[in-house]
Amino acid sequence: MTVPRFVAAKQQGRKLSVLTAYDFLWAALLDAAGTDAILVGDSLGMVVQGKATTLPVTLDEMIYHAEMVVRAVRQALVIVDMPFLTFHVSPQQALENAGTILKKTGAGAVKLEGGVNQATTIRTLTDADIPVMAHVGLKPQSVLKLGGYKIQRDAERLMADARAAEEAGAFGIVLECIPRGIAAQITAAVGIPTIGIGAGPDCDGQVLVTQDLLGLTGDGAPKFVKQFANLGQQASTAVRQFVAEVQGGRYPDEVHSHV
Ligand code: KIV
Repeated sequence: MTVPRFVAAKQQGRKLSVLTAYDFLWAALLDAAGTDAILVGDSLGMVVQGKATTLPVTLDEMIYHAEMVVRAVRQALVIVDMPFLTFHVSPQQALENAGTILKKTGAGAVKLEGGVNQATTIRTLTDADIPVMAHVGLKPQSVLKLGGYKIQRDAERLMADARAAEEAGAFGIVLECIPRGIAAQITAAVGIPTIGIGAGPDCDGQVLVTQDLLGLTGDGAPKFVKQFANLGQQASTAVRQFVAEVQGGRYPDEVHSHV
């Protein structure tokens, strides 16, 4: 997958699948299963590091995880999130950090949260031939200002953000947690793919946190998450069985021992 093919999928009416990965093992699995793009999301701060928000994630941490992902991927487009405060200070700062991400990881694109407010920065990156995916709607890096992870319903503002991102040269836009009707309007209004998460079925593609769709993050997932498997339960059962068999002296048995 390349950026031009990703964009062309919209004109071809082919829906795009995007999932998060933070390491070699999961990236290899997602890639082999045919995922169009793999996002090294700053959600790793919560999913991998167990932090309350994505705000503490650093550029070095993103690069560390993205390197592992890129090493595993054969076909998918790898997109790396720019963490909080790595693009807010100035377009120049964003350019240096986005360039560093691409140089050090071999990823194909970066993503940053913002629309109208980051248009100059998106333009600066795309003028330097750095492919940028924008992210509008619920922006997790704005959680302190928003006062929580809330559905965003200001249709005018959301449309303005999406249009600004496209005009600034973004090749795609994540639409997070917005009503499906607004997502449909934005998708019809812009020429670049919209990738929804909690934005309904009319987007050009969908993204989920892999651990959510596999049922690894437990109960309390947001309404839009469909658990396609319950790996958490399966893993827990397997580990309990291992513990019981070790304690009971049943593992390792003859079959699993060298003679
Ligand atoms: O950080 C992330 O994983 C994301 C997706 C959920 C869109 O931004």
